[in-house]
Amino acid sequence: MRRTVQNSPIIRSSECRVEVIANTQIAPEYFSMRLAGPARLARFRPGQFLMLRPTDDLDPLLPRAMSIRRARRRVRGAGCEVEILYKVCGRGTTRLSAMGQGRSLRVVGPLGNGFDAPQRAIEVVLIAGGVGVPPIAALVETLADRAPTRRPAMTVLLGGRSQADLLCVSDLRRAGAVVHVATEDGSAGYTGMVTELLAQHLDARRVTRDARLYACGPYPMLTAIAPIAEQYNLPYQASLEANMACGFGACMGCVVPIKGDDERAQTYRLVCKDGPVFDSRTILWDEQ
Ligand SMILES: Cc1cc2nc3c(=O)[nH]c(=O)nc-3n(C[C@H](O)[C@H](O)[C@H](O)COP(=O)(O)OP(=O)(O)OC[C@H]3O[C@@H](n4cnc5c(N)ncnc54)[C@H](O)[C@@H]3O)c2cc1C
Ligand code: FES
Repeated sequence: MRRTVQNSPIIRSSECRVEVIANTQIAPEYFSMRLAGPARLARFRPGQFLMLRPTDDLDPLLPRAMSIRRARRRVRGAGCEVEILYKVCGRGTTRLSAMGQGRSLRVVGPLGNGFDAPQRAIEVVLIAGGVGVPPIAALVETLADRAPTRRPAMTVLLGGRSQADLLCVSDLRRAGAVVHVATEDGSAGYTGMVTELLAQHLDARRVTRDARLYACGPYPMLTAIAPIAEQYNLPYQASLEANMACGFGACMGCVVPIKGDDERAQTYRLVCKDGPVFDSRTILWDEQ
């Protein structure tokens, strides 16, 4: 029997209807949307994402991927509350920004693997660019919730074109992270790329040998971090971006080239299903 996307077991088991509780503009191009959904959505790993689309029509036809910023069981009422942060950049996100309280969406997820959080209280440096902040902030808050003996020391390096692109700064500081910011136009913090800030941070020997790097943001940013991580011999997990049509391995639209085994120099993985988080050493960064 031919299996369609609609009757896929993944869709059947993880699709649900969610309702908009609030949809608030937090910066000129950015919105925070809070959604009420089933309790199972609260069991997510930072870095996992949802595929969202309207329930009432097919415009846009394909769902849009959004990282889970936070999700928690509701204090009053059943189910859980999920938050996403998004940038309005095209048709789908423009439609999303117009959705008021009470509107409903179809959601599939949580999808993907998420970050592999350190088990011990080592040092972590987390780098986020633009809308790469939500999964990084989710990871910081998850680590901050741990007992002090297992809580890593966290430094977040946040980059954007201007100050208006720097999201979650106060949330990150409240969770105990040391936050440094970089903007391309110099409107806040270091003037330049966040990757330059990372190189400076490591050059100043501000991290221990067993530190780890975690990053989410535009592909050029993730690519630029790879040689820096290699130079300092630091494990680096990168959450990749890709245009996604399904989000769970059915359309093959999100392939990423990966180093092969002894017989093959190169192979492929799906960003939605095998990622979006990958160990940097497995990725063929120059092949994209
Ligand atoms: C795993 C994952 C998690 C994501 N999490 C978030 C998030 O938390 N917040 C958020 O704002 N966005 C996130 N994105 C990106 C988001 O899915 C796209 O911005 C969105 O699909 C754009 O839809 P649109 O219809 O508004 O724009 P479109 O009209 O589809 O595209 C507008 C512009 O955005 C570019 N674009 C589209 N999709 C992507 C993409 N996946 N990555 C990079 N550029 C893209 C297009 O090339 C085009 O230039 C995530 C993407 C992935 C794959
Ligand atoms: S988005 Fe369809 S296979 Fe990855």
